[in-house]
Amino acid sequence: MPRNVLILGGTSEAYDLASALVDRPQMRVISSLAGRTGNPRRPAGEVRIGGFGGSQGLTTYLRDNHIDAVVDCTHPFASRMGWNAARGCTAAGVPLLRLERPAWIRQEGDLWDEWDDWSQAVALVSARSRRVLMAVGRHEIEPFASLDHVWFLIRSVEPPDPMPPFAKAEILLARGPFTPESERALLTAHHIDTIVCKNSGGPTDAKLLAARDLGVRVVIKNRPPRPETPKAASVAEALCWLGCQPGD
Ligand SMILES: NC(=O)c1ccc[n+]([C@@H]2O[C@H](COP(=O)([O-])OP(=O)(O)OC[C@H]3O[C@@H](n4cnc5c(N)ncnc54)[C@H](OP(=O)(O)O)[C@@H]3O)[C@@H](O)[C@H]2O)c1
Repeated sequence: MPRNVLILGGTSEAYDLASALVDRPQMRVISSLAGRTGNPRRPAGEVRIGGFGGSQGLTTYLRDNHIDAVVDCTHPFASRMGWNAARGCTAAGVPLLRLERPAWIRQEGDLWDEWDDWSQAVALVSARSRRVLMAVGRHEIEPFASLDHVWFLIRSVEPPDPMPPFAKAEILLARGPFTPESERALLTAHHIDTIVCKNSGGPTDAKLLAARDLGVRVVIKNRPPRPETPKAASVAEALCWLGCQPGD
């Protein structure tokens, strides 16, 4: 069993893994956060905040802190850290596990258009959408601002700053989780014909269920490529890779 474990965090899986490891004797657990949000929720145990300075910075950190194992629990769309982790761990000779929630899979009745880059998404929306719920990060809406013939409902936890120059848009400040009922009500009240989102995955998503029920189109971003590393789909699998039992 490794003694010093570094968790690359920013997701609920990272919090759950830190909580599951923190009280184990002979194990030091350090959670790392990027430091993007002002007042982040603190994981259990030791926490460090801020970038490492690329893969070389990570290698130095791993050596200086005698890290024996790294679990990359960063968000499925935070791929830069994943590539840095693979390079940094290889250079330091430290084993790396990728803990990633399974992607959502298209079900019968889903009207999905899948895409890999923003220009594809803009073209898909431009061609067939008139009233769109934007459920992507507030820093990712800018490419859609050129679509003057489309009305956007931009849902975000914090207001976009700066707000891109949309011709027709409304901001809805809201933090999930949402329910299928509230999502159905929202889509109906605003006559939404398209949702733009990313395939973040995890438990069944309320907006996707509501979209399936109402026949709303979903323009959904595929996950970016990731390095080949051992993978776990749950905290229990990650504990197993670390040589721990859930109840130890
Ligand atoms: N992208 C999303 O949709 C999304 C959604 C929810 C949560 N998050 C979380 O927000 C954080 C930043 O996301 P991003 O998309 O900007 O990531 P990214 O593009 O993969 O990473 C950009 C840079 O941020 C630093 N970084 C990222 N995660 C870090 C961590 N856990 N600890 C220390 N440094 C980290 C690294 O800087 P250095 O090169 O200097 O080491 C990395 O090169 C991630 O931790 C992610 O889990 C992202």
